Amino acid sequence: MRAVEVRLPACRYAVTIGRGLLEQLRRLLDESMTGRDLVVVTEPVVWRQHGRALLAGLGELEPAAVLQVPSGEQAKSLAWASRLYDGLLKAGCDRKTGIVAFGGGVIGDLAGFVAATFMRGVPLVGVPTTLLAMVDSSVGGKVAVNHPLGKNVIGAFHQPVAVVADLATLDTLPTAQLAAGAVEAVKYGLLGDRELLTHCRSTPFGKWDLARVVADSVRNKAAVVALDEREAGPRRRLNLGHTLGHALEAATRYRGYLHGEAVAVGTLYAFRLSILRERASEADFEAVLELYESLGVPLAVPSVPFRRLMELMLHDKKAHQGRLLFVLPVGLGEVEEAVGLPEPLLARAYAELSARLDRIGVRPARGGKR
Ligand code: NAD
Ligand code: GLY
Repeated sequence: MRAVEVRLPACRYAVTIGRGLLEQLRRLLDESMTGRDLVVVTEPVVWRQHGRALLAGLGELEPAAVLQVPSGEQAKSLAWASRLYDGLLKAGCDRKTGIVAFGGGVIGDLAGFVAATFMRGVPLVGVPTTLLAMVDSSVGGKVAVNHPLGKNVIGAFHQPVAVVADLATLDTLPTAQLAAGAVEAVKYGLLGDRELLTHCRSTPFGKWDLARVVADSVRNKAAVVALDEREAGPRRRLNLGHTLGHALEAATRYRGYLHGEAVAVGTLYAFRLSILRERASEADFEAVLELYESLGVPLAVPSVPFRRLMELMLHDKKAHQGRLLFVLPVGLGEVEEAVGLPEPLLARAYAELSARLDRIGVRPARGGKR
């Protein structure tokens, strides 16, 4: 078992990582949750596979209710948040209630948003069940729901009181989801953790030491969040690959890519920009491309003109006054920020990237499995 402490000016909490931790949940949550009513927010896929283990592990911390929303991004809406408020009120919850977010990043963001707003804020425990949620979304306090005009645009910062990442839950996660989560772990390598990057590059994906990869990712994220909880400065760097990535997701109406897959293509685009700026080499680009391929991440650009992607990037909440912010690699293991790059440069980098990758149309809606 590994534990990483997240220390912020106003709070601190532990992220505990290991196999079989659901069984130890009551002990792990003793300090933060004893004496509170607990409500579990989850979704059917996760509940079917791991609900029994969660309930057994909670023991005497028996939940007052288990509230389920549909699996997938569609549940990250104000409508589903509102139904969760209904469920909390019907279960007699008050400001002493604690919410357990049991699922992937969707459940963490939605349940976290509800925890941030119900009774002006109640404690949140994260029990992430996807690799993406373990390495990234369960830590750092960003919680949100989507608006029809934009992803994550209604949200808050609400740090959890504890996070428990049971690696055994990943045994049931579809391979494509596991690979998409791995992209976010690789991100921490590219941002500066060269040892983590070396582990990811030198070890076949099936043999990754997941406890180490999750703990290292969380440690890296915790260090950045401790410096800049509200993303006024250093936290922006966690958006490596996300400027184009979010536009790719939006251009394909959130059906073309898993989040990590879009971030992988966005990161390769960032490398193309860095090559044009003579801050990274073709060898760096090839190394990262090879790494993503070894994870089995599909690497493709959508059948839409670059102009459309530009519009979407400018519409994203990371853009400011018509200027785009890119986090760009400097070789392997360092990044820098670039604001207001000229459009011809952006278009050229995209053309070069497109020449190397497959092309996808807007695929029909798909579930988690492929
Ligand atoms: P997700 O929560 O939709 O889970 C992916 C799929 O895996 C779903 O179909 C789910 O039913 C299934 N699943 C989850 N756990 C499983 C398990 N153990 N076994 C079998 N199936 C399982 O998606 P995600 O990739 O975990 O998260 C994506 C979301 O996270 C997006 O909404 C994104 O915006 C958000 N996000 C938030 C942050 C943040 O800092 N708050 C950071 C990155 C991403
Ligand atoms: N996932 C980026 C962040 O938490 O800031």
